[in-house]
Amino acid sequence: MLETLKKLPEDPILGLMAAYRKDSNPLKIDLGVGVYKDEAGNTPVLEVVTQAQRHNIQAETTKAYIGPAGTPGFGQLMETLILGADHPAVLAGRTNTLQTPGGCGALRSAAELLKRCSKNTTVWVSNPTWANHIPLMGDAGLAIREYPYYDRETSGIQFDQMIAALEQTSAGDVVLLHGCCHNPCGADLTLEQWQRVAEVAKDRGFLPLVDLAYQGLGDGLEEDAAGLRILAAVVPEMLITASCSKNFGLYRERTGSITAISRTRVSRDITHSQLCSVVRGIYSMPPAHGAAIVETILSSEELTAQWYEELAVMRNRINDLRKLVVEKIAARGITGDFSFITHQKGMFSFLGITPEQVGQLREEHGIYMVDSSRINIAGINDANVDRLVDALAQVL
Ligand code: LMR
Repeated sequence: MLETLKKLPEDPILGLMAAYRKDSNPLKIDLGVGVYKDEAGNTPVLEVVTQAQRHNIQAETTKAYIGPAGTPGFGQLMETLILGADHPAVLAGRTNTLQTPGGCGALRSAAELLKRCSKNTTVWVSNPTWANHIPLMGDAGLAIREYPYYDRETSGIQFDQMIAALEQTSAGDVVLLHGCCHNPCGADLTLEQWQRVAEVAKDRGFLPLVDLAYQGLGDGLEEDAAGLRILAAVVPEMLITASCSKNFGLYRERTGSITAISRTRVSRDITHSQLCSVVRGIYSMPPAHGAAIVETILSSEELTAQWYEELAVMRNRINDLRKLVVEKIAARGITGDFSFITHQKGMFSFLGITPEQVGQLREEHGIYMVDSSRINIAGINDANVDRLVDALAQVL
């Protein structure tokens, strides 16, 4: 039976990780997979995470199962982080948040839940979107359609075209939006644009599914959630998937959440029971370790303050690198306007070069990025930026 299967090509992002590791070039540069790196090129464990982990090891009394929804404390704290304690949907008791294995576990659970609502659900994704959104949604059996988003000519958002596409949606469709720090393009909606999307959602009756994987890495924790909070105040139903991989640096611990906003308290309880059943049929229960770390941090004022500081260091470094690389490109005399990189948010931007030029950078210079020319800004540092810009000048 297994003989009928065909070997697949490597995952477009994870395959890069493997290729980078194999490359023996001492001057190689990794701008591929989206993990934060410090000036030395390391992805360190946050100091606050180490402290919380130490505390948890002392305090832990059991390894017994935690149940499909995870711990209620974690769900509550994540919900407050995402929506704020005073959000009208929260005050109305229409929200419920479950712990999941990373943002991917949340997205796949969302897809399976939506499939239970209707076998014919269509999910609209931005063009472009994170490559893994497609299998996470599509393998659950949802139909995928695209709405225009990034304009490669202007390096901005094709907002009128996006709205025109959203106006074609039907009630019962799902629209997947990036909460902040759009992956892969870094171009985010303004608050006015979120408001407009909310009006169209209400008018057309589509369900927004917001993927919040980078909260705190754009402008700040509150700022990065402001758009989705506008949406959540307007629409009757919404799903939010969140990841603690980047903002807590918990990547391999697989820590995330799914928040469902339902029409009423009664439908909230129904949605919760369905989500628990979905989860039970996929991974049964989420892993405990990463979520316990987040819970320890967010339930302590002192540790939360320390986390804010460490998160600000990551965010400021990324924003400074955005400016640095644009200055270096201009100083090197490379033609073309790259200033858009400084206006974009989060870890990623497109360089806007061709797949052939991306291949040349990889083969001739040991510089790794996704074929679309998406770069992980955090992979740049003072020691490699000149090499990067010189190589770019050569391939251009
Ligand atoms: C990325 O986009 O590089 C990250 O979200 C890692 C991943 O799983 O693709």
